[in-house]
Amino acid sequence: MEKVKFGIPGLDEILKGGVKEGSTILITGVPGTGKSIAAMQFIYNNALKGIPGIFITSEENMTSLRENMLNLGLKIEALEKKGLMTIVEQSITSGGMISIEAPLKLITQKKIKRVAMDSLTLFEFVYGGSTNEFRKGIISFIKQMKEAGVTLVVTSERDTSEVDGMKFKPEDFIFDGLIILSMIRKGSSFERVIHVNKMRGQEHMIDVFPFQIGEGGLKVFPKQIPFSLIEQDVLKKSKR
Ligand SMILES: Nc1ncnc2c1ncn2[C@@H]1O[C@H](COP(=O)(O)OP(=O)(O)OP(=O)(O)O)[C@@H](O)[C@H]1O
Ligand SMILES: [Mg+2]
Repeated sequence: MEKVKFGIPGLDEILKGGVKEGSTILITGVPGTGKSIAAMQFIYNNALKGIPGIFITSEENMTSLRENMLNLGLKIEALEKKGLMTIVEQSITSGGMISIEAPLKLITQKKIKRVAMDSLTLFEFVYGGSTNEFRKGIISFIKQMKEAGVTLVVTSERDTSEVDGMKFKPEDFIFDGLIILSMIRKGSSFERVIHVNKMRGQEHMIDVFPFQIGEGGLKVFPKQIPFSLIEQDVLKKSKR
């Protein structure tokens, strides 16, 4: 089976080569954990290989998004000019009608197979804050994406960064895959860690791995153990 490469160094190794074509993945974490960058790497690196994608942003405006990504070495504009990448801005604060119809039209018309949506908050605005309508909205969006054969990456926010104490939300169960980005404190240091919680229908590693953000975006180290968790593990073991 041909897998879709996520495009994040180290993550594809954790995913044993990538994700299943047509799957839907939620990247979740507290602010500043790297969700937007990760979603952008998915679209950007697939576009670099000639597979066109759409990045729907309701979080950052296009200009600052392009600028921030350029600081990481992701040259979005060049790919936009080649028609390999499209950024769709769905601003919540613009006061205009928020709709997901426009990007949906673009996806079917241009036969797009890679879509990222940053972030799920957009749905909460579209569906007026009602939990049921919000869930129904996500389910119907996912259904449309699946019918179009799209591999979808969506970001969502959390208010707790703990990997152990994470309270799961209803939307976590809707997606095929769930990737959690966290920052763990040890003394005065923070370490970025990633954990693939689920990836339906395929094999993947389930451990917590350290990652960094720098040139190119996220870089995961699948052969390393997070330093912030080493002592914790040793302490836990010695209590047994
Ligand atoms: N050029 C850069 N070099 C190094 N690190 C960077 C660079 N640009 C951003 N970062 C790191 O990435 C973080 C932002 O990543 P990103 O925007 O993906 O977070 P996020 O999880 O989407 O946050 P939010 O929930 O606020 O949208 C910054 O806080 C910073 O730590
Ligand atoms: Mg973000």
